[in-house]
Amino acid sequence: MRITVIGAGYVGLVTGVCLADFGHSVDVIDIDASRIERLKAGHSPIFEPGIERLITHNLESGRLAFSMDLESSVHAASVVFIAVSTPSSDTGEADLRYLFTAVDQVAAILSQHPSETPTILVVKSTVPVGTCTSVRTRLLNAGIGEDRCIVVSNPEFLREGNAIGDCLNPERVVIGAESAVAFDRMKSLYHPYVAREIPFVEVSLAAAEHIKYASNAFLAVKISFINELALLCEKTHTDVLEVARGMGLDARIGPGFLMPGPGFGGSCFPKDIRALEAVGQKNGVELKLLGAVDLINKRQKRHVVNQVLTRLSGISAPIVAVLGLAFKANTDDMRDAPALDILPALIANGAMIQAYDLVAADNARPLLGEHVRYCSSAMAAAADADVLLILTEWNEFYDIDLMALKSQMRTPTIVDTRRVIDPKSATRAGFNYYGIGRA
Ligand code: UDX
Repeated sequence: MRITVIGAGYVGLVTGVCLADFGHSVDVIDIDASRIERLKAGHSPIFEPGIERLITHNLESGRLAFSMDLESSVHAASVVFIAVSTPSSDTGEADLRYLFTAVDQVAAILSQHPSETPTILVVKSTVPVGTCTSVRTRLLNAGIGEDRCIVVSNPEFLREGNAIGDCLNPERVVIGAESAVAFDRMKSLYHPYVAREIPFVEVSLAAAEHIKYASNAFLAVKISFINELALLCEKTHTDVLEVARGMGLDARIGPGFLMPGPGFGGSCFPKDIRALEAVGQKNGVELKLLGAVDLINKRQKRHVVNQVLTRLSGISAPIVAVLGLAFKANTDDMRDAPALDILPALIANGAMIQAYDLVAADNARPLLGEHVRYCSSAMAAAADADVLLILTEWNEFYDIDLMALKSQMRTPTIVDTRRVIDPKSATRAGFNYYGIGRA
């Protein structure tokens, strides 16, 4: 099948590369010439484990191309994906300008190129309920009826750092459409999923849009729940990890997303809960729970700052070593990363920061300004530090050499917001250890 993917970002690039790997002929289109040139050379503009191998493999096979020529691509394609960003506007609502621009461009091209077979226009971007219906109206107003173009909602559930795996092996495929033609075309597009009997959830456009926001919002609820419980566990001399394990073995709760941390970040959860709240307000339903989720998330970051400052009191010119800057491990993405709130608060209280992140330093540098020294290893960051603050859960932080670490630091104190260090080992090594969610 000939496919166009509009947007070579986290979602569009992964989607396009995986569809090429399924055997389709895919053009990934973007308006950023430098991004397209880098991709043509096989270099990914995003850090995503395994993506460069897939890019190179599918470029070499001739199934994958990167281009700025939307017209030629859409003209030849039977399925066009829109995977452009839908950032938060000031009101918290999703800003759909890039989406509608892409829709208008596709409409103009389709009007120039009549065809017997309707093009399937797939909205892959995360959009508020009702957007796909608006897209369909927009097409109609441009003279493009369902005989020429059918709108489908196909939300993604890709986790950064695991996106290739999530795309190649989804737990379910959500397809929102209003016509059998669309469902059939999507099934043949996703033939590997059909062959592996991965469940297809075939619903209305609105239900598919809702499933995406509701899924992300619920995951954020789980995280804020365990983060709030972690604060209580610290007071009741309980270990939240033990509580989470006991909870998660209940199939109705499930073990996933019950890890305490410094607060959730990323390009999705913060944005999506605000967007869903806005949908609620628009429809006269106050989604109180989501408001609480956001407030708990903000409090979690303040809690981390307080835990560090408490351990710096009385130290002149304190140095904080920070392990991990991105919003989580295995990504270079700094969007809404807890570090963007936590580090400025520590700096405002007189701390100097020595930071180490395996891949995110270049993205962090323009966002965190001065007072942050970027180091090439955890040990370098720990040099003469008074507190070691762990903000992400990279594998290499789990078995850091505690004796070597202690010899590096001025004061042997660890604030572990990801529970990657074994508390007993830390105490045996002579550290003053704080792990989130335990006394
Ligand atoms: C999320 C959704 O998981 C994915 O389905 C959707 O398509 C996009 O948004 P992503 O934001 O890439 O994916 O990362 P995810 O792994 O979900 O983590 C989101 C945030 O929650 C991170 O800050 C992470 O550190 C935090 N988190 C996650 C926790 O604090 N505890 C957990 O147990 C899990």
